[in-house]
Amino acid sequence: MIPEVVRNSNENDYLLDPMIGGGTTAIECKLLNRNLLALDINPNAIEITKNALDFESEFNPKIKLELNDSRSLAMLNDESIDFILNHPPYVDIIHYSEKQIPEDLSNIHDLDEFCDEIEKVAKEFYRVLKKDKYCAILIGDTRRNKMYQPLAFKVMERFLKVGFELKKVMFILENLPPNKAKYTIEKQPQNIEEVSNEEQHYYEELLSNMTPDDKEVASKESFEI
Ligand SMILES: C[S@@+](CC[C@H](N)C(=O)[O-])C[C@H]1O[C@@H](n2cnc3c(N)ncnc32)[C@H](O)[C@@H]1O
Repeated sequence: MIPEVVRNSNENDYLLDPMIGGGTTAIECKLLNRNLLALDINPNAIEITKNALDFESEFNPKIKLELNDSRSLAMLNDESIDFILNHPPYVDIIHYSEKQIPEDLSNIHDLDEFCDEIEKVAKEFYRVLKKDKYCAILIGDTRRNKMYQPLAFKVMERFLKVGFELKKVMFILENLPPNKAKYTIEKQPQNIEEVSNEEQHYYEELLSNMTPDDKEVASKESFEI
């Protein structure tokens, strides 16, 4: 998904990925000639990204790596960034720093508390992004006590609250083994019994809105309903 998103920016643009993790965005920027400021709260992520960039490319864009808590982007002027790609933790599903770094947002279990912190990040994004430019958020939902938690929508609401407008929502089709691949749009429950009627209706609606091309991709990816 990240490579497709980076292709939505333009050559020589100045991109920001404030939670760079393993460095996927940085690799794409080196391949596609985008300048990038890559940040993360975890020194391991910075190190991994640095190593991941050790390859030959026909381009040599400026890629800067910095340790930083993304709730403050003090190093950036207002309206200085052309494109933001943010792939935050999905609350505490994965503890990226195993609770060793207090500022790591993946320490937070409570959904509303997590969204309060994401709102601070979103405010900074709004400040540093040039007007009429795009910010892409890559995020998934979660479950608590077998109940669906619409984390992506809650996060989206916080971005709208600080001033962003929503251009579009994209869903990821994932490739699962056929016996598990009943529903592969947006979210794959562990087994089919976990799908509520409302959710099933929602997937059916998504399917009916798909273009023939989308459907072909979905069927190749073992999608069935
Ligand atoms: C979902 S991962 C990013 C994965 C990345 N897209 C990749 O390609 O590997 C989320 C990242 O957010 C980072 N993170 C968590 N809290 C942060 C904060 N307050 N400021 C900056 N980065 C943070 C984590 O260290 C982790 O690397």
